[in-house]
Amino acid sequence: MAKKINLTLKIWRQKNCKTPGKFEIYKTQGIDVDMSFLEMLDVLNEKLTKEGKEPIAFDHDCREGICGTCGAVINGQPHGPQRGTTLCQLHMRNFKDGETLVIEPWRAKGFPINKDLSVDRSAFDRIINAGGFISVKTGQAPDAHSLPVPKENADIAMDAAQCIGCGACVAACPNGSAMLFVGAKVSHLNQLPQGAPEKKTRVLNMVSQMDKEGFGNCSNAYECEAACPKEISVVHIAHMNRDYRQVNLP
Ligand code: SF4
Ligand code: FES
Repeated sequence: MAKKINLTLKIWRQKNCKTPGKFEIYKTQGIDVDMSFLEMLDVLNEKLTKEGKEPIAFDHDCREGICGTCGAVINGQPHGPQRGTTLCQLHMRNFKDGETLVIEPWRAKGFPINKDLSVDRSAFDRIINAGGFISVKTGQAPDAHSLPVPKENADIAMDAAQCIGCGACVAACPNGSAMLFVGAKVSHLNQLPQGAPEKKTRVLNMVSQMDKEGFGNCSNAYECEAACPKEISVVHIAHMNRDYRQVNLP
């Protein structure tokens, strides 16, 4: 039989971004350690609903670690304690019986709170709209394959392309910086010949939109890399800075 644990959950409740929020305490018993963190929240929400109480709002979609929709800070760690793991892929076996978990939404100026643990990450969509695209027609798969890409550039682009846009990097950064996300998106396309026509405008426009959205600057804390569920390297921030500097050289 699966092991069960009891937990005390201190969860951030907030009606919307205009109303002040507060922590509420929930005692949960008999949690199956094979459940995912989101399944545990589902069970709690079922209980709250049966009691006629408001369920806890949280973001989720694929529950497979690929869409980037889920996310919450658990005991100060975005996506929880397991490295390289999204909240939906985190299992309750990572926690001890009797533990207290403090569960908060992403806290950053660029991500206003929708409700409880759900935040508005449309700032990321606007940054992508500013330059996260290519204008060339790549054709069918064999045509695209006929365009040679040096192995080193292909590897950097593939690593950067793993970013799922979850925003944990922003939540982890003491400055609320989005530079790991933007660095990954710029690196992904700027490394490839297909991304070359917009290379200069891409980095300028995406960085400018990032600043407009109210995200902070990078001060090399490296917290973003540690929190990233796709283990995106800060090297991509260096690539972005290099591209940005080259565009701005006199
Ligand atoms: S860089 Fe990592 S933490 Fe940041 S948005 Fe992309 S996947 Fe999420
Ligand atoms: S719900 Fe899609 S990555 Fe977690």
